[in-house]
Amino acid sequence: MKTIIKLFSASAFVLALNSCGGVPEEKTADAGEEKAFAVAEVLEMVAKENDVTRTLYTKAIVGGGKKQGMKFDEDWRKDDVEAGPLPALFLRGIATSIRKSPVPLGLYLGSDFPVNAANKFEGKQAELFTQIKKDQKPQFFYDEGQKLHTAMFADLASAGACVSCHNKHPQTSKSDWVLGDVMGATTWQYPKDSLTYKETVAVLNSYSQGTVDIYMEYLDEIKAFEESEKPEIGDKWPAEGNYLPTPEVFLDSVRKLSSYETMKHLVAAK
Ligand code: HEC
Repeated sequence: MKTIIKLFSASAFVLALNSCGGVPEEKTADAGEEKAFAVAEVLEMVAKENDVTRTLYTKAIVGGGKKQGMKFDEDWRKDDVEAGPLPALFLRGIATSIRKSPVPLGLYLGSDFPVNAANKFEGKQAELFTQIKKDQKPQFFYDEGQKLHTAMFADLASAGACVSCHNKHPQTSKSDWVLGDVMGATTWQYPKDSLTYKETVAVLNSYSQGTVDIYMEYLDEIKAFEESEKPEIGDKWPAEGNYLPTPEVFLDSVRKLSSYETMKHLVAAK
């Protein structure tokens, strides 16, 4: 029973991670030293968080925001473009933030028919992606060349906006995507085959921190808007009007939608 209590408080601690710091300090000195999770399990947990984050951003921010006249663009970072990041670039922002963190987690979004040719799967990943398209099941392998444990998860056309934007994009290599299609896959990499509790928490935290970082970059862009009407940043969402949630409100919704699954894994660990 004691262990359970400890694990519960540890997962509550993951879920309560705060949005402005990096990796929080351990509360108990002895916690998390032994190997608790296989790398595949951890990558599955973080991929689940990513699904929720990605769908929430695409539907509630991009989908909802467009209805309010907000713009989202590939060139969102350019000074003369007053827009927010497209979903794929939001994900890349998260990946960039993780890469700059001390956590050795890699994240990449690819496809067999990409909009951006640089996102085309090659080699082993291309091979496994054909299988993912058939059964939508995750694929795991050890990349001998890079010496990295690699997991791939289907990236589904979960919102109408995914399909319509890709189909009519001038650089698209496929224009008949339909809702529910496997449009690509997220590839996750980590150097070790198992992780301690502490390392697992660090992976999950670096993902959340990545979300906050790219979202804050978006809000910073908005501050610099000169022509466009600026949405009000607070606790409301675009569905209610010209509003955007703060990073805390956004992350809070991600947690509400995904944390139960993540917690189940963390609690079942020992
Ligand atoms: C408003 C336009 C737009 C929306 C909405 C959009 N995408 Fe994309 N997507 C792009 C663009 C542009 C790229 C290429 C970005 C880059 O890497 O330069 C991209 C990249 C991707 C990639 C990487 C492979 C590629 O095509 O380059 C995948 C996979 C992908 N998107 C899937 C999705 C899914 C799934 C959704 C919905 C959850 C979605 N996209 C929503 C425009 C969009």
